[in-house]
Amino acid sequence: MSEIILGIESSCDDTSAAVIKDGYLLSNVIASQQVHKDYGGVVPELASRAHELNIVPVVSQALSKAGVTADEIDAIAFTRGPGLLGSLIVGTSFAKAMGLALDIPIIMVNHLQGHFLADFIKQPDKENEAPEFPYLCLLVSGGNSQIVRVDDPIHYEILGQTIDDAVGEAFDKCSKMLGLGYPGGPVIDRLAKEGNPDRFKFAKPRIPGYDYSFSGVKTSLLYYVRDEMLRDPQFMEKNKEDICASFQKTLIDILLDKLIKASKDTGINQITIGGGVSANSGLRSRIVEEGKKRGWKTYLPEFKFTTDNAAMIAIAGYFRYKNGERTSLDVAPVSRMSDF
Ligand code: KG4
Repeated sequence: MSEIILGIESSCDDTSAAVIKDGYLLSNVIASQQVHKDYGGVVPELASRAHELNIVPVVSQALSKAGVTADEIDAIAFTRGPGLLGSLIVGTSFAKAMGLALDIPIIMVNHLQGHFLADFIKQPDKENEAPEFPYLCLLVSGGNSQIVRVDDPIHYEILGQTIDDAVGEAFDKCSKMLGLGYPGGPVIDRLAKEGNPDRFKFAKPRIPGYDYSFSGVKTSLLYYVRDEMLRDPQFMEKNKEDICASFQKTLIDILLDKLIKASKDTGINQITIGGGVSANSGLRSRIVEEGKKRGWKTYLPEFKFTTDNAAMIAIAGYFRYKNGERTSLDVAPVSRMSDF
């Protein structure tokens, strides 16, 4: 018998709903909130209000694009956390209400697990190759930077994570500091393509194990640009491509050093990436390049599945549904990874 899962994602500033039938994606609708652009970052209160406005039309569009009616859904998977609490409340409450009204189970999903299972989303018109278990996922987003060992669709272990800023935050904060706008990752990525990555050197952290730190490199860039601007107020404008390329290279070096170490130590050579920063073209080509050198089998999710989307929540929920998991209606969302 076919199994149809509706996925709902509302952990940050994207309201998304997706329908998956037997692991195949039928629809994936995303409403990205534009309201934050003027503020240089996501404003939590505005995000929750926008989710409230978006959730009903986004879910109905996902169902109609999939050609599925509400009474055909077998279960609703939703992001329980981590994320912005107000945003998570909207998706969680909606999933609970809809599950109750339709008398079908709801299944909570960890947002990060959605990211590292994104390679398993099957599309009716496309061949896709998913990694073999166990694999290592470099999970890099606006809120997280982690190396995760994924043992099967349900079980995983975080081998290392950032002790301060996430790498996406480093992209965003530095872009803001350089006056390049928000979100910073795509702008820096674009400018970096035109620049010399070896022109400037920024400090790299020395952290033991597989953990990351990105606050030092951010400060190093800040001080360097500030001092140069005192000498030449046009410094930034004249050199922005080289600054972006050098900064991006430093971040990628930091990410790759630990990933290479984790692969060596665990003997795992199946490597995937996930999270918004995995859209970065420099990171993608570097992973492929290192993979060739080191005998890795690398998997790069499609761009549309790298940033926040409900398809990844639906696929993670689908695995949990098949594993017999059901979530009680008294579940509450959680903002932090350590609570879930
Ligand atoms: O996973 P995601 O959509 O959600 C959050 O964790 O919030 O990731 C968003 C992050 C932002 O920091 C954004 O600047 C970054 O992903 N990002 C990129 C690129 N596209 C998005 N970073 C580097 N290069 C990109 N092309």
